[in-house]
Amino acid sequence: MQFSTKTSAPQKTRSGCAIVPVVAGGLGAAGAAIDAQVGGALSTALSRKDLPAKAGGTLLVGLGGAIERVLLVSLGEESVVSQKSFTEGARAALRALAGTGAKDAVSWLGEATVDGRDAAWKARAQALAAREIAYRFDRMKSKPDPAPRGPAALAFGCDRADAAPIAREIAAAAAIADGMDLARDLGNLPGNVCTPQYLADAARALGKAHALKVEVLERKQMESLKMGALLAVAQGSEQAPKLIVVHYQGAPAKQAPLVLVGKGITFDTGGISIKPAAEMDEMKFDMCGAASVLGTMRAVAALQPKINLIGVIPACENMPSGRATRPGDVVASMSGQTVEILNTDAEGRLILCDALTYVERFKPAAVIDIATLTGACVVALGHHHSGLFSRSDSLAAELLTCGRDVADTCWRMPLDDEYQEALKSNFADMGNVGGRAGGAVTAACFLARFTKSYEWAHLDIAGTAWRSGTAKGSSGRPVPLLTRFVLGRAGLA
Ligand code: BES
Ligand code: MN
Ligand code: ZN
Repeated sequence: MQFSTKTSAPQKTRSGCAIVPVVAGGLGAAGAAIDAQVGGALSTALSRKDLPAKAGGTLLVGLGGAIERVLLVSLGEESVVSQKSFTEGARAALRALAGTGAKDAVSWLGEATVDGRDAAWKARAQALAAREIAYRFDRMKSKPDPAPRGPAALAFGCDRADAAPIAREIAAAAAIADGMDLARDLGNLPGNVCTPQYLADAARALGKAHALKVEVLERKQMESLKMGALLAVAQGSEQAPKLIVVHYQGAPAKQAPLVLVGKGITFDTGGISIKPAAEMDEMKFDMCGAASVLGTMRAVAALQPKINLIGVIPACENMPSGRATRPGDVVASMSGQTVEILNTDAEGRLILCDALTYVERFKPAAVIDIATLTGACVVALGHHHSGLFSRSDSLAAELLTCGRDVADTCWRMPLDDEYQEALKSNFADMGNVGGRAGGAVTAACFLARFTKSYEWAHLDIAGTAWRSGTAKGSSGRPVPLLTRFVLGRAGLA
């Protein structure tokens, strides 16, 4: 989908469809100009109350002529539109548009006043909504999905003064959407296709396309590094583990890099502590942290900010077998700390702890790990916010803001030392589980023991990385949040 800006007069701008906002029941300047051109067809439709007043209501008015159609979009009943109403309106508009034959469209939604947001933000929200709706995953079907994908081109009508900032923003949005598409594809692929080897190959392909340095560490190297926790998870599977390292260098080598570490469990059966059968298929999504790291690397590599970024992915499969780890086994992590594996289903923290020790060598400016880590986080926060854990108030604040900016939000959770007690073990330095209470917090506390030498945050994306039910599929989150964070650190946001 091609995005552009248009500064011509609305009534003179040719298109397959003009998208026109209706705020508190009335047309704005662009809508009024088009309305005058078409003999009042829009105001007539509005006076008949054909458009639902609620944000997201849409009404298609067929015209013919230079503007073939107009899509009226309700942005709610307040004169200052909330961010939520605007996003809902944009989504509804683009969904409605996909059901028409329009080949291109010009959106005038940006003429609505949105609470605390500028023209660039409004364009980005629409561009991301358009790409979200256009996304299909039909690679595993014998015939392509026939559902319409919407217009091939979407222009944003705007004032001359806003054209340059909007153009910059839609380039960033397109890169973010490309990154989300990659993350979604990897997430949606089944566990028999998307293996650790497949993730390594995907990283190498990404490296080729964008001139990124990619290293893949094999089991032998993990053994020499003494990654006993990671290897303990991998040992039950026929699939060889991989530690994938992707380097983006946009600044001099001496500048400390940002590091993203993504959980890459390509399928989580639970291991010997096996999961119940219901919904176990969704554990193919247990590599969505890894997918979001690759998606973010893709977006960043396309936008070329002046910053250094490293993506690290511990990838393996959690399987039961005669060689699998038993509950009660004690292993030594790369850090030297020993862990009693009381529950083999708490495997994410085991692969992450060794990856988090490994990244010390990069002397990072900050490390963020991203993981579908706990069902408890879904219980705590549901599916709207990712869980955010950090000892650093400034890093936490930065991530909270980035999330709000791009509608990929997180919510801060506690990480106090009091919770550490739950990880006590009689036989090792710590257990890998802390009981049912505060499960997302004790999981984060486990990771905190391995991240003492740098500024660190943990994102638990168990509730946000994919949707269940009839709309089952990967969401591409938190690629927007992470990309925004990296661009912000590069002074670009
Ligand atoms: N990948 C799961 C977490 C998960 C479960 C995410 C369901 C989304 C939906 C993780 O490896 C896991 O199994 N965690 C356990 C931890 C427990 C054994 C302490 C959990 O959440 O039940
Ligand atoms: Mn598990
Ligand atoms: Zn898992």
